[in-house]
Amino acid sequence: MGDYNEKVMDHFMNPRNVGEIEDASAVGEVGNAACGDIMKIFLKIDENGIIQDVTFKTFGCGAAIATSSIATEMIKGKHISEARELTNQAIVEALGGLPKQKIHCSVLAADAINKALDDYEGIHREEENEIICQCLGIDMKTVEHAIAHGAFTMEQVIEKTGVTTGACKGERCREKVEKLLNKYCSL
Ligand code: FES
Repeated sequence: MGDYNEKVMDHFMNPRNVGEIEDASAVGEVGNAACGDIMKIFLKIDENGIIQDVTFKTFGCGAAIATSSIATEMIKGKHISEARELTNQAIVEALGGLPKQKIHCSVLAADAINKALDDYEGIHREEENEIICQCLGIDMKTVEHAIAHGAFTMEQVIEKTGVTTGACKGERCREKVEKLLNKYCSL
């Protein structure tokens, strides 16, 4: 816990907007395969597309709770189009930063909000577990898992997963790994 700043601790110890909305307009649930966290978000949206109420339930670590808590505050009263634009970077910044190994937890809140908005707008996306490294059949969850467990550089991801060491020497997968590293570790 020593790595968390005061604001993170406050949102972790006194999370805002916890619970369920029974007659929610939309619900979004995401799990982070990397560390087993689950977040569920409930939105009450009025006829003008304004988020009147938002609550969450999270099964996860302190950082997952704190990011969920502050994310609900950031989208409450906002239009759904603004909520769509909330990035995990903005969430982490609003918290005043997170320890690097916890950055991936912030992705959960932004993803859950987007999923709830998909639900509201009737958008169905396929569960993504894209193959990242075609040569070796290494999928996205494997790479995410490595990042969540401390592989914060390309070299470390390669060491943990073997990506880029196949026949094409990373020509087809290096860029995809870089994108994932940026998503989770860009702060
Ligand atoms: S696709 Fe990863 S090494 Fe070729």
